[in-house]
Amino acid sequence: MANPAESGSLWMPPQASTVAADVDELFDFVMLLNYVFFALIALGTIWLVMKYRRKSDDQLALSQIGHNTKLEAAWTFGPLAILLVVFVWGFRVFLDLSVAPEGAYEVQVTAQKWKWSFKHPNGTQEFSELTVPKDRPVKLIMRSQDVLHSFFVPTFRVKQDVVPGRYTTLWFEATKAGNHQVLCTEYCGKEHSNMLAKVKVIEVPDPQSWDGPKLTLPPGTTPEQWGKQLYSSIGCSACHSLDGSKGTGPSFKGLFGKTEKLTDGEVKVDENYIVESIHDPKAKIVAGYGPVMPSYKGQVEGEVLDAIVAFIKAQK
Ligand code: CUA
Repeated sequence: MANPAESGSLWMPPQASTVAADVDELFDFVMLLNYVFFALIALGTIWLVMKYRRKSDDQLALSQIGHNTKLEAAWTFGPLAILLVVFVWGFRVFLDLSVAPEGAYEVQVTAQKWKWSFKHPNGTQEFSELTVPKDRPVKLIMRSQDVLHSFFVPTFRVKQDVVPGRYTTLWFEATKAGNHQVLCTEYCGKEHSNMLAKVKVIEVPDPQSWDGPKLTLPPGTTPEQWGKQLYSSIGCSACHSLDGSKGTGPSFKGLFGKTEKLTDGEVKVDENYIVESIHDPKAKIVAGYGPVMPSYKGQVEGEVLDAIVAFIKAQK
């Protein structure tokens, strides 16, 4: 039989974190209880219906209905004992899920409509992809720029709401290298179902001293090509089209070099205007659009910023 840790089960995807097996065992136990009690109740009902089927009009004498103390005690204290087992077991797994181990690798996570970004201790910012080492606890400190989101990694069996106005945390220790799907599991607007990311688990020689990835121009890529990938992963694509169609924001097609009509005056689109619009989007609002773009200051900087500008310039 296939190993559920590798291939998943009927209910569950493969297990890829230290807590996944514990979560699944508890889930399987609760499911087993459901099967057993479903069978007892369904078969018991059928049996009683047949046994005490009404046979004549005068049969239903109230004086025949008494009670059975042993039976009542059994159906009261039996389920109570089972529920206490589930409670204690569940509470222990819940504590494991809630309390990150000492010395975990900390990542700042920002959710905003409709993308995830990740900031490492070494300052590297990643978009729609979180690189972490295998076999080291990772603690996510998460906040939202706008509305309620939720960070869910099915193969890790971890999920946590990301709430505007406060920090929430979540931790995991990945046991399998490779890509793991991240889903947003709180409805957060029209692109909610596309608010995806990947946890990229890598094997490093010394996970405890690993200090984060370096986000620089990938070898063999031009800034413009990298800018195209970033356009999707940062999430520009949710609002800015490449084909001239009007989105939440102006299209990038033919943008560079043209004169843009603003709500107040006009501007010739050059590098400085693009950088200003990324870092301080509310400084100049194009006529016909709302001031809805969040600032990417501190997030889109350096080589990432250069690549985005190069990409926008290339959209003739
Ligand atoms: Cu973010 Cu749904």
